[in-house]
Amino acid sequence: MTQAFENLKNSIQAEPRTWLVTGCAGFIGSNLLETLLLLDQKVVGLDNFSTGFQHNLDEVQQSVSQTQWANFNFIEGDIRDLDVCKKAVTGVDYVLHQAALGSVPRSLDDPITTNAVNISGFLNMLVAAREANIKSFVYAASSSTYGDHPDLPKVEDKIGNPLSPYAVTKYVNELYADVFARSYGFSSVGLRYFNVFGKRQNPDGAYAAVIPKWTSSMIKGEDVFINGDGETSRDFCFVENAVQANLLAAANMPEQGSQVFNVAVNARTSLNELFAHLASTLDKNGVKYEKKPVYRDFRTGDVRHSQADITKAHDQLGYNPTHTILEGIEVAMPWYTQFLR
Ligand SMILES: NC(=O)c1ccc[n+]([C@@H]2O[C@H](COP(=O)([O-])OP(=O)(O)OC[C@H]3O[C@@H](n4cnc5c(N)ncnc54)[C@H](O)[C@@H]3O)[C@@H](O)[C@H]2O)c1
Repeated sequence: MTQAFENLKNSIQAEPRTWLVTGCAGFIGSNLLETLLLLDQKVVGLDNFSTGFQHNLDEVQQSVSQTQWANFNFIEGDIRDLDVCKKAVTGVDYVLHQAALGSVPRSLDDPITTNAVNISGFLNMLVAAREANIKSFVYAASSSTYGDHPDLPKVEDKIGNPLSPYAVTKYVNELYADVFARSYGFSSVGLRYFNVFGKRQNPDGAYAAVIPKWTSSMIKGEDVFINGDGETSRDFCFVENAVQANLLAAANMPEQGSQVFNVAVNARTSLNELFAHLASTLDKNGVKYEKKPVYRDFRTGDVRHSQADITKAHDQLGYNPTHTILEGIEVAMPWYTQFLR
């Protein structure tokens, strides 16, 4: 339990606000949407279903009351269209901007679309939010911004060179946020997520994230592929930690300037360890996976090790992750076994 988060939830529930969640049909966005509706907030959602799904919204609808669902206003639209962004921010207090094209390999295959959505779309959202005088702007930044910087754990002000087009786009978001603070006095917070996982993360396709992809393969008895020697490591962050960081950031916007915060746990798990955790948690959930992983080449653009120093988010936002990777996997597994068959 984290006191700052509990206090915040109580205060917004007592006095509901209006939130815009862009990318609300995606993984993190739909988890934000669910939490906010359960706290009786009014939520405007914006998504173009490019990598998000109607079934994610349907699932959120199932988990909230009819009255709470009536507080949700969905706009199907594209952040590359400034008018859509302007419409979406109208009457909104807080913006949680999640819409983007994720995935390093997708950005290597199609840098132009990734650039258009992640940079031009982001800029549209900044312009629209500034004009609408919203109270706070929180956006999804990324640990990929650390690029080739060797230090571990990663501290916010020491970054290296980006290793992929995706990383460039996420870094440019931070630069634009900073310039909007300097030029227009528009404050914002970027949350550098580190490998977030949990329910509703898409397991399918070439650009799927490792945890849902491997879990789905294991459930189906298919091969699991490890890119490299398996000693690549990540600070896997359960989605409830990321949700907590978003709400705390929205409520603790700096008076002036732009800020970025790492969002993870400050732990490091290798891919080999992850494979073992998933197999043993599946076993506890009645699914046996007895194959060995298949090792193949390292993937271009991947960072070798990643681990977040979360002191800044802890000290300035009151962020305290509630779930380790193992606890998160335990919570998520029943959902995976129900939906990834
Ligand atoms: N999942 C992670 O581990 C992780 C790590 C670092 C950063 N991020 C960032 O977090 C955010 C959310 O990621 P996610 O994992 O939930 O991905 P996701 O693909 O599940 O969600 C993204 C959502 O944005 C929507 N979207 C994409 N382009 C759009 C456009 N042009 N207009 C409107 N909507 C659009 C998609 O349809 C989707 O619903 C992204 O900005 C991503 O870059 C995620």
